[in-house]
Amino acid sequence: MCGIVGYAGNKEALAVIIDGLKKLEYRGYDSAGVAFLDDGELVVVKSAGSVAALEGAMGERSSEIKTGIGHTRWATHGRPTDENAHPHRSCCGEIALIHNGIIENYRSIRQRMLDQKTHTFSSETDTEVLAHLIEENYEGDLLKAVRRALKEVKGSYGLVAISSREPGRLVCARQDSPLVIGLGKGENLVASDIPAIIAHTRRALVLEDGEFASVTMDKVEVYDHKGLLVEKDELEITWDIEAAEKGGYDHFMLKEIMEQPAAVKETMRQRINASEGRVDLSELEFAADQIKSFEKIYIVACGTAYHAGLLGKTIIERLANLPVEVEVASEFRYREPLLNDKQLVIVISQSGETADTLAALRLAREKGVSVLAITNVVGSSVSREADRILYTWAGPEIAVASTKAYLTQLIALYLIAIYFGEARGTIEKKEMDEIVNGLAALPAKLKSILTEESVSRLRTYCEHLAKWESAFFIGRNLDYPVAMEGALKLKEISYIHAEAYAAGELKHGPLALIVEGIPVIALATQQAVLDKTLSNIQEVIARGGAVFAITQEGFNDVSKQIEAIFYLPPTDDILAPVLSAVPTQLIAYYAATARGSSVDKPRNLAKSVTVE
Ligand code: G6P
Repeated sequence: MCGIVGYAGNKEALAVIIDGLKKLEYRGYDSAGVAFLDDGELVVVKSAGSVAALEGAMGERSSEIKTGIGHTRWATHGRPTDENAHPHRSCCGEIALIHNGIIENYRSIRQRMLDQKTHTFSSETDTEVLAHLIEENYEGDLLKAVRRALKEVKGSYGLVAISSREPGRLVCARQDSPLVIGLGKGENLVASDIPAIIAHTRRALVLEDGEFASVTMDKVEVYDHKGLLVEKDELEITWDIEAAEKGGYDHFMLKEIMEQPAAVKETMRQRINASEGRVDLSELEFAADQIKSFEKIYIVACGTAYHAGLLGKTIIERLANLPVEVEVASEFRYREPLLNDKQLVIVISQSGETADTLAALRLAREKGVSVLAITNVVGSSVSREADRILYTWAGPEIAVASTKAYLTQLIALYLIAIYFGEARGTIEKKEMDEIVNGLAALPAKLKSILTEESVSRLRTYCEHLAKWESAFFIGRNLDYPVAMEGALKLKEISYIHAEAYAAGELKHGPLALIVEGIPVIALATQQAVLDKTLSNIQEVIARGGAVFAITQEGFNDVSKQIEAIFYLPPTDDILAPVLSAVPTQLIAYYAATARGSSVDKPRNLAKSVTVE
């Protein structure tokens, strides 16, 4: 999720690279760096902070520098510091590289190097091992060295390397992390994202997983994983800069909705082992006895993260047999909750900076309660102050309305519930197998929901919804918090007043508001309460409400009663909230765009609320 720019050509390389990094900076990166050849010597300049800070650190540089690489970092392994910023250099100082992604087995490679005393490390990052591995494999050809080095590596990468022994050459490789090569006249560029190159060229090659490339100012060669040359089709980029920043989508929110399969996959990476049916959260460093000793969990959060917490309650109670209370942080902090050291407080915050959540965290710690934070931002206040951190790897979220961060928060809660369940002996092996395999299947299922054909199923309903000033979301059991989050999304970005109700509560009030045509979005993904939910839906239909149902394929009773339906691929009921959230996000998005609202920056709202 970091930004990569590489340049080989006849212009001033550093100016091109800095300009490219600035084009990516809108995502809020935390550190930046460049590496280049100056008079045959490999120079690395890097610093925590913005690209402007990096420019300051670089000072005046020769205009004769024609090749280089640059990086803006969104911290994952290792805090946002000068040392952890990219590029990373090999010990001999002749090779430098920038990397997006995660090297899963970096700890064992690093340990091997430390045991053999072959390399010294100057950062906490996973990336640094790559620089050393390439050096170990270097025999005069950087491309071969990169290929050999990557054979030892498990994980994801988009990387670009340079060597002082091969001036003018960039070598890149891709696995699960995007890289494009911009084709210019007398110059070629490499970047993780199109905005970084379109000021220079509109012609590009998109690297596929397993491919490598050698890039100089006048030649680009792409190889497959076997080392055979590949003929690639050129892509013509027609986007303007604004569209390019949004990956060609009209809004960041839609881009982020579409990024959910990858974000979910990334958050589970290394933490689930589907073949063994197990979850590994040893990164949290809980002793098994400690997990057994907890008597209660509080989940504390705000906004969308609070809704993730509501789902977390049912999931953790079910799988780990541990009572959970969920509270909005602004209430928790002022109501003197009964805290003691047999409890665990889980705070959830995308930004890690929400003032109320941070205050709740501090209150819990003051009272001697251990705090586990689920957050998306390395180095955030919450991450610095919590006792333990479980990062969601959603990448930067720009749209105010949270989507991909929410889904990854849910994933984090499933992981905790299963991990705790195993430690406490409250989950059967068979059930654990099923749920872990179900989790592993989610990215593909999310992808299938996000196809154009699938999305088109809710567009017509959204046109109807957009004409109303009021709407309802209903559901039972795990569908109820999904309904609450759906209503919040719709309110936030379309300004339609939306209320979520536990379907069984309809008759205690809101049924009085059901009139001909009023939009009611009904979540019906939970088999155990399906009949009850269907009766509630009938109560709405009988009064003329326009129902849109979100259900699982195979729940045939739903289709017998309702026309407007969005089917989710079948999944274990407990995992359905991850899938059912997506159509609710899309409903909010298309209703908002139909009304011409400012989707990414809704009125009166902020992405991160750092005041009370
Ligand atoms: C704001 C945002 C919401 C977010 C909430 C909590 O209200 O608009 O999208 O859910 O803050 O933010 P956090 O960063 O703590 O998850």
